[in-house]
Amino acid sequence: LSGVITIDPGYKNSGSCKSEVTFLDGELGILRYRGYSIEDLAEKAHFLEVSYLVIFGELPTTEQLVQFENDIRKHTLVNEEMKNIIDGFPKTAHPMGVLSALTSALTAFNPKSVNVENEKEMYEAVCKTMGKFLVIATWTYRKSMGFPLNYYDNTKGYVENFMRLMFELPTGPYQADPVVVSALDKLFILHADHEQNCSTSTVRMVGSSHAGLFASISAGVSALWGPLHGGANQAVLEMLEEINKDGGDAEKYLSKAKDKNDPFRLMGFGHRVYKNFDPRARIIKKAADEVLATLGVEDPILEIAKKLEVAALEDEYFKSRSLYPNVDFYSGIIYRALGIPTDMFTVMFAIGRLPGWIAQWKEMRENKEPIGRPRQVYVGYPLREFKGVDKR
Ligand code: SDX
Repeated sequence: LSGVITIDPGYKNSGSCKSEVTFLDGELGILRYRGYSIEDLAEKAHFLEVSYLVIFGELPTTEQLVQFENDIRKHTLVNEEMKNIIDGFPKTAHPMGVLSALTSALTAFNPKSVNVENEKEMYEAVCKTMGKFLVIATWTYRKSMGFPLNYYDNTKGYVENFMRLMFELPTGPYQADPVVVSALDKLFILHADHEQNCSTSTVRMVGSSHAGLFASISAGVSALWGPLHGGANQAVLEMLEEINKDGGDAEKYLSKAKDKNDPFRLMGFGHRVYKNFDPRARIIKKAADEVLATLGVEDPILEIAKKLEVAALEDEYFKSRSLYPNVDFYSGIIYRALGIPTDMFTVMFAIGRLPGWIAQWKEMRENKEPIGRPRQVYVGYPLREFKGVDKR
């Protein structure tokens, strides 16, 4: 090996690239997309507007935003043959596994690879991905419920369509509650990008071999599925429900989380970068109170979450490790209040994160990043002589 190879498990201290998309400061709890603060964007912008910003680098003018929404509408029809693929899954299949498979299958129906140098082609690939991913994401839920698969309604907005695609039944029109649409819009914005997290690094790694955009996004969906990453929002709700069933004793579960012999982790707590409050968690916690109050939803789970948070923030074990609530701690409580089923929570994360995956893939290819191929330190056997099977 020429030179010394330093091993950095989980890349805790390694930078993989230079990027202009997202700025994070873990100490100060700062998050910005293309220089705009997440607080401003969550408050004043809409998800497609922020998606345009994250992907193309600038906030769109009115005409650019209208054009973007109309261009996405050109690609919201998913090839009918994709239904044969989804029909192959059992109803019990986890939606993230179905979503990853369907996303990869989009390549079969859109085989032309994307030439990132060609602005027009790249723009069309962005609109195609934003349009089709939203539809197939909701198909995973419809399939699990045995409902017919819905089509995007080009007369309605992107986030409103999400609710229709999920919940409209042939028995009558579905009217999404504007409170729900605006809460979801904000949640999607808060998930849009997060620099080189596990799933985004996966999208970059797969794309670095010049695999296609759909194949790279499909890999990102699989990485996000893990309970240590996006899957945490589902794990948080399951944990809170377990605590609620067990009498709501936060202290008991905190000591389980601190016991090294106990595999129990306080899901929704801790972060590789934030050693302070995750700014998204702060906004989502406030939104949880507002949405539940507006919808008139009383959820004991929210009270348990707050009790757990207060106890953990005062606890030496968590304080000494700078463990704070992260984006996944409160998001599930809102999703639940909006009627989203628990096993769809990570699909919600994927829908929000899609523009970030696209933006980072585009930047990696535009910057002509080399194929990702780390080295290792070999610690296996030295040379051994082969032995015939009769001598083993
Ligand atoms: C996301 O990277 C991103 O940006 C991700 C994300 C994004 O937007 O893309 O922000 C989204 O994935 C948020 C994180 C969701 N995951 C969870 O909530 C799962 C629970 N959290 C942990 O598994 C953990 O905190 C991670 C995975 C988030 C971070 O893991 P690290 O950085 O590898 O930290 P670690 O596991 O080495 O923990 C450091 C210490 C350890 O104790 P010691 O060995 O030092 O004694 O803190 C402890 C850990 O045991 N610890 C926890 C804990 N998280 C860390 N102990 C109890 N409960 C926890 N949740």
